[in-house]
Amino acid sequence: MTREEALALDRADPLASRRDLFELEEGLIYLDGNSLGALPKAVKGRLAEAVEAEWGRGLIRSWNDANWIDLPSRVGARIAALIGAAPDEVIAADSTSVNLFKLAAGAMALRPGRKVILSEPGNFPTDLYILQGLGQFMPGIELRLVEPGGLPDALDDSVALLLLTHAHYKTGQLHDMKALTTWAHEVGALALWDLSHSAGALEVDLNGANADLAVGCGYKYLNGGPGAPAFAFVARRHQADFQSPLTGWMGHAAPFAFSDDYVPGQGMLRALCGTPSVLGLTALEAALTAFDGVAMSALRAKSRALGDLFLDLVEERCPGLGVACPRDSAKRGSQVSLTHPNGYPIVQALIARGVVGDFRAPDVLRFGLTPLYARYVDVWDAVEHLVQVMAREEWREPRFNQVAAVT
Ligand SMILES: Cc1ncc(COP(=O)(O)O)c(C=O)c1O
Repeated sequence: MTREEALALDRADPLASRRDLFELEEGLIYLDGNSLGALPKAVKGRLAEAVEAEWGRGLIRSWNDANWIDLPSRVGARIAALIGAAPDEVIAADSTSVNLFKLAAGAMALRPGRKVILSEPGNFPTDLYILQGLGQFMPGIELRLVEPGGLPDALDDSVALLLLTHAHYKTGQLHDMKALTTWAHEVGALALWDLSHSAGALEVDLNGANADLAVGCGYKYLNGGPGAPAFAFVARRHQADFQSPLTGWMGHAAPFAFSDDYVPGQGMLRALCGTPSVLGLTALEAALTAFDGVAMSALRAKSRALGDLFLDLVEERCPGLGVACPRDSAKRGSQVSLTHPNGYPIVQALIARGVVGDFRAPDVLRFGLTPLYARYVDVWDAVEHLVQVMAREEWREPRFNQVAAVT
């Protein structure tokens, strides 16, 4: 494909106008929306208003007058529409890690007598670390890590919970949510899905897959900003029995009754713990308006096409690079993952040229494709820069070989 042809694809792209909803510096090729989504223009004004009017003037009255108290449910309902859940099945709160803890602990309580949590080696570290920490507090829990191909066989009646990340953070490999959830249910286990790399990027159908529980990030494809609140989903059929291990006052049935004894709140409210992060939720709520009127099927179609174009061009023009993501777009999330032993300095050299991706140890170059704002020509230009970085061996420069704290 030529650059002209890529530009023609952008002209024909039904989502092209969405890019104008984001602050993106002219000339920057931003392919890291899977780490931190770009700033939606709507967030700037809305945050300024929330700070000046709601906090600045309204002060404590804004909990009622500006409805701050409903933000977790309101934002949760918006996210629900993107992940195939009902509005009352999702709440926005805390971080993904904290939500993983709450939901995994809650799942163990829903399956008394069962001790095994099944996951895969190489899952995102926080998912594994949280399970390891949970195991230390709930004696007897066994964390069983099995390569994806062995998961169906590893599901037996000792398994309480299957916890997987839908789109793998490093390889972009997609799990078959429906099949794995069905297999988990056949042995009486629950399925918890980490949607951090799928919410807002792919069609997710939690209820279509009959999923039990899910969590995900607000700052990646949902564009809620650095450290944005995350979300948690508990299928309606489990909500009455779901117990959070973090029984904070905001999850109480009547927080302002100030009673001594904890009584869980209705539905997803019981998944709350402490006071919600009002400014973070306000930013996320405004960011989610970028999805208004967008069909997830259209987003997914564009994401697949962008990934295919990227990989076609890399295979044609960058012979020294390996491919770590599935070639089949149906099995790939919204990212392209390449491999090279000098991956880190190559990514740094690209960033210096204005092509922002990231690096995941030991050798993965990651490029997130956010269909709301990534263009076909961005992909074409990114590969052109990659070709030049490799041909000129720019990555050998010492400044690109100094490893920063965040890669
Ligand atoms: C799959 C997955 N889960 C969780 C997280 C992060 O969770 P937290 O928001 O708690 O930092 C990430 C971050 O990259 C992730 O990729």
